Amino acid sequence: MFDQQPTQIIGIASGKGGVGKTTVSVNLAVMLASLGKKVMLFDADLGLANAQLALGCRTPFNFSHVLSGEKTLNDIIVEGPMGVKLVPGASGIQHMASLNEMQTAGIIQAFSDVDEDLDYFIVDLAAGLSDTVMTFLCACQHRFIVLKNEPSSIADAYGTIKVMIQEHQLDRIGLIPNGVFSQDEGERLFGSINSVIQNFLGSRVEYLHSITQDEMVLRSIKSSQPLVTFAPSSIASRDFRALAKVVMALESDIPMDGGLQFFVERIATHQTKNG
Ligand SMILES: Nc1ncnc2c1ncn2[C@@H]1O[C@H](COP(=O)(O)OP(=O)(O)OP(=O)(O)O)[C@@H](O)[C@H]1O
Ligand SMILES: [Mg+2]
Repeated sequence: MFDQQPTQIIGIASGKGGVGKTTVSVNLAVMLASLGKKVMLFDADLGLANAQLALGCRTPFNFSHVLSGEKTLNDIIVEGPMGVKLVPGASGIQHMASLNEMQTAGIIQAFSDVDEDLDYFIVDLAAGLSDTVMTFLCACQHRFIVLKNEPSSIADAYGTIKVMIQEHQLDRIGLIPNGVFSQDEGERLFGSINSVIQNFLGSRVEYLHSITQDEMVLRSIKSSQPLVTFAPSSIASRDFRALAKVVMALESDIPMDGGLQFFVERIATHQTKNG
């Protein structure tokens, strides 16, 4: 067998809910795929999964069937626009604040079996900073924080970043301001947060790209399609194209065997440390 390409593993988080994580995850995934990349999206919101809606996919089974042992990961994966593979989350299950040993073992087992050649593995996380979210964030190589230019979103994003840096020594944190009225607004928002992070945490985060507030986002969801295929020339689609190019230019100096080995190993390590 030939060597696999290293897979870039990206976790998409926020502090506050409803700021656009799923919108960003889905549209970034489809945009990267339309630029020729092999992409898998994991809806890791195990309480209130909805990436399948934004992607416009029918999902007969979901991750709860994998955790219960009824299905394998391959049984539940569906293919969406531009060939993006979706691992549907476990909707309807009570919100999982922290994964138990069985569930962790199930996740590790499930993803160990993925032998697809992937360029990007994107993890759409639940809101907030539960142990489960932290476990996933620690297992990623890049962490993107989506936030809005609103006091509560800014405060929660900062709180999340603070925990990531101080308690988990995570780096490679990038910001994606969403719902802005101009790229300028997003850059200014980044600048002010980054200076607080530098002053109070002695660290820094990266600016990725901002996504403009665009009514086409809502219209695309209503028509069960990702924005970037529904309205490719909309303002927000252009922003997603620019974001995808920034993401493709990100370097990863983490030595990787390829595949999802890294993700699986880090979930196991994190659980052993905390369990
Ligand atoms: N750039 C945008 N322009 C207009 N509407 C947007 C934009 N981004 C997101 N939205 C809308 O905001 C709402 C919340 O978005 P989304 O579901 O992506 O947030 P989320 O952070 O994943 O939420 P949750 O925390 O519940 O998982 C959706 O109705 C979505 O259509
Ligand atoms: Mg979401």
